[in-house]
Amino acid sequence: MTEAELYDVYRGVYVPKHLHPPESLKYYEDFTFRPDDVLIVTYPKSGTTWLQEVVPLVLSGGDVASVRTVPNWDRVPWLEEHRAIVLNLEQRPSPRTFATHFHRDMMNESYSKVKPKVIYVMRNPKDVFTSSFHYYGMASYLVNPGTADEFLEKFLNGKIMFGSWFDHVKGWLNVKNEDHIFYISYEEMIQDLKGSVSRIGQFLGKSLSPEVVEKIADNCVFKNMKQNPMSNFSLVPAEFMDQKKSEFLRKGVAGDWKNLFTEAQTERFEAVYKDKMKDVTFKFAW
Ligand code: A3P
Repeated sequence: MTEAELYDVYRGVYVPKHLHPPESLKYYEDFTFRPDDVLIVTYPKSGTTWLQEVVPLVLSGGDVASVRTVPNWDRVPWLEEHRAIVLNLEQRPSPRTFATHFHRDMMNESYSKVKPKVIYVMRNPKDVFTSSFHYYGMASYLVNPGTADEFLEKFLNGKIMFGSWFDHVKGWLNVKNEDHIFYISYEEMIQDLKGSVSRIGQFLGKSLSPEVVEKIADNCVFKNMKQNPMSNFSLVPAEFMDQKKSEFLRKGVAGDWKNLFTEAQTERFEAVYKDKMKDVTFKFAW
């Protein structure tokens, strides 16, 4: 199926119709944040699911009840997805935790006024591309990626769900004096999960003992999360996500792009990256 059949254009980016019908987008436009809400913000395939596991564990001081009993999409709902409307988010006790793939300039008025806590997760875009390439091949609500060359052009031109990786990252980095936003990368979490858990804890005002940090990190390592039916998307029907084609928790490593990219694709990617990121001073961990 084509982009025209599967996607709507919302605020200039493609959003898959199946997950984000107009009433869901309207719900998000009208949504009222609280100052102690915790919002996990990512470009897709950057580590959203990972943070949907880490953050509830940090907030609960390591209590695994919610990550063992509640699917990640209800535990930390996406505000732009259709389920947000039916989850009675207004009734949830503070601190509430949400996820979103929205760009900075798509956030609503309440966000700008209230400034809830944001954890912005970034990942090497070549790995985001690689993870997306496999994911688009198994998820029926997305347009089939075609060849890696074809998908590369779409990725570099932002013609995929939630638009351009470059615009997303630049938009979220380009904010002034916003200490309610905490930046972390997938690569930092791969390198030092315990240190990352502690830093997230500090940002959220939770002082965690070394034992609790250890317990959280152990719960959130790839091989353990992959076994958790509440987090590995095994509850999703195969006609929606066919995990026989590619698992959702696929490899969980940094640098898998090297197994996919040809030399020509690497050159093309890096040339576009250099141009689009030329004014960015942030030091990335990749
Ligand atoms: P790969 O496809 O490279 O394996 P998102 O949740 O934003 O859609 O991102 C999905 C990516 O995060 C997938 O990458 C998935 O395997 C990876 N991921 C999820 N949980 C992880 C974990 N505990 N450790 C490492 N990677 C994880």
